[in-house]
Amino acid sequence: MKLKEIQNTFHKALDSVYGKEEVDSFFFILIDFYYKISRLQLAMAPDFKIENKAAILNALEALKQEQPLQYILGETEFYGLPFKLNKNVLIPRPETEELVEWVINSVASRAVKRSLSVLDIGTGSGCIAVSLAKNLPNAKVCALDVSKKALKLAKQNAELNKVEIEFIETDILTCRHAELVSASHKFDIIVSNPPYVMKKEKPQMKNNVLNNEPHLALFVNDENPLLFYEAISYFASHKLNLNGMLFFEINEYLGNDMIRLLNKKQFKNIELKQDIFKKDRMIKGELS
Ligand SMILES: C[S@@+](CC[C@H](N)C(=O)[O-])C[C@H]1O[C@@H](n2cnc3c(N)ncnc32)[C@H](O)[C@@H]1O
Repeated sequence: MKLKEIQNTFHKALDSVYGKEEVDSFFFILIDFYYKISRLQLAMAPDFKIENKAAILNALEALKQEQPLQYILGETEFYGLPFKLNKNVLIPRPETEELVEWVINSVASRAVKRSLSVLDIGTGSGCIAVSLAKNLPNAKVCALDVSKKALKLAKQNAELNKVEIEFIETDILTCRHAELVSASHKFDIIVSNPPYVMKKEKPQMKNNVLNNEPHLALFVNDENPLLFYEAISYFASHKLNLNGMLFFEINEYLGNDMIRLLNKKQFKNIELKQDIFKKDRMIKGELS
């Protein structure tokens, strides 16, 4: 079958859902992934035929059901690194890359010579932990999650990127801190992108997120949207070294609540940071 014919089938089936440009973008990513043919190569050989059309037609069916492309491919890129993905983990977001960048720059500006101890809470695919391990060569990185299936994938991603990370399966809301890491062990950096979407935000969310991404990774009860932030900042206030830094990705509507929370927990030098879309999406505090 000619690839051009398949491209037309894509447009007929998907343009009304995604728009023509996005459908073209899906199509070219998929032909590159399955058949190693670029957009330019197809333009130069418009009659190009493929033998095995099953893969791309299966992808078309998945796109019709509004499955995210990253799950269909089973992989994505984050902070310039490759990551395997499946439906047990959140698809890493660009704003989380900005959080990673902020952590790396904050460490660089301190010119720390000794080895750093880093903990990522709610690691999911491992995107934050792996990117930090890769870019902070003097860091010893630990990562935890309550989901066994997420941790399995995060371990594969650590191997894929050739970094060593200690993974811990635990529930940060109920764990006893001494059990989590030895009582005397303290961290220089704790970072977390915990669940923060309130259930009342569901009507504004896209179907491809709501119907595919794990709700365990996304949602928190409307009554206590800062539940994870309370627990993690309490944990951090006991488990950070002096001058240690706590970094969070946050709900864009809760910036001021987060400043109040970190103040209450005695964090200093609190900084709220906007993402490239000028939304309050990150916060950091230091323990002094
Ligand atoms: C928003 S996702 C973040 C995933 C990844 N760090 C990222 O930035 O893409 C939140 C993660 O927290 C984990 N999680 C949810 N409840 C938890 C709990 N009680 N204890 C530990 N981890 C939890 C979820 O399994 C999920 O992987």
